[in-house]
Amino acid sequence: MQKLLSVLAVIRSFRIVRNLVYKKNDKKDIVNIINLHNRKFGQIDNLTKLYLYTHKNRSLYTIIKDDVCIAYALYIARDNNEIHLKGIAVEDNYLGKGFAKKILSDSISELGNFFKIISLNVVSDNTGAISLYKSFGFVIESENEDEISMIFKK
Ligand SMILES: CC(C)(COP(=O)(O)OP(=O)(O)OC[C@H]1O[C@@H](n2cnc3c(N)ncnc32)[C@H](O)[C@@H]1OP(=O)(O)O)[C@@H](O)C(=O)NCCC(=O)NCCS
Repeated sequence: MQKLLSVLAVIRSFRIVRNLVYKKNDKKDIVNIINLHNRKFGQIDNLTKLYLYTHKNRSLYTIIKDDVCIAYALYIARDNNEIHLKGIAVEDNYLGKGFAKKILSDSISELGNFFKIISLNVVSDNTGAISLYKSFGFVIESENEDEISMIFKK
């Protein structure tokens, strides 16, 4: 039974849709993710880099096209109950095509099996991201001028 479950997990985490490859927790893609991050936001900070490479409680989801990462989501577990969405981004040329929704729906349905709460922080003027999170059932837990904390409860 355990073996069957791990085979199913591998199949779930590696799906090829046309020339898109959807993967979970593949360290080889970290360089790709860092490149995407650098293109979108400028130089990646060392803490995020450290999270990507070494954090033992991280869950990473990527969508790769032609060996280039076009979308990623990075989660860090805070404890046994809560996992925090640390970062999510889609390459500029692929925005608005449903890749963030794909990564969020897959990760939420998977992580929801293990964690009661998925949390995130988003800057207050990021209306696109806030609508996206609300459409998945995230609700505002607290907010200040600069930042909104949202949670998703299973
Ligand atoms: C946030 C981000 C990941 C969304 O990527 P995306 O490719 O637009 O997302 P998708 O196409 O999968 O989903 C679009 C959904 O997001 C929401 N959305 C995205 N942009 C929006 C906007 N400007 N206004 C309103 N809703 C918006 C909508 O719910 C939309 O769903 P719909 O098409 O059914 O209306 C992308 O804009 C990004 O990389 N932003 C920079 C990084 C960032 O801000 N990350 C979030 C940090 S917390």
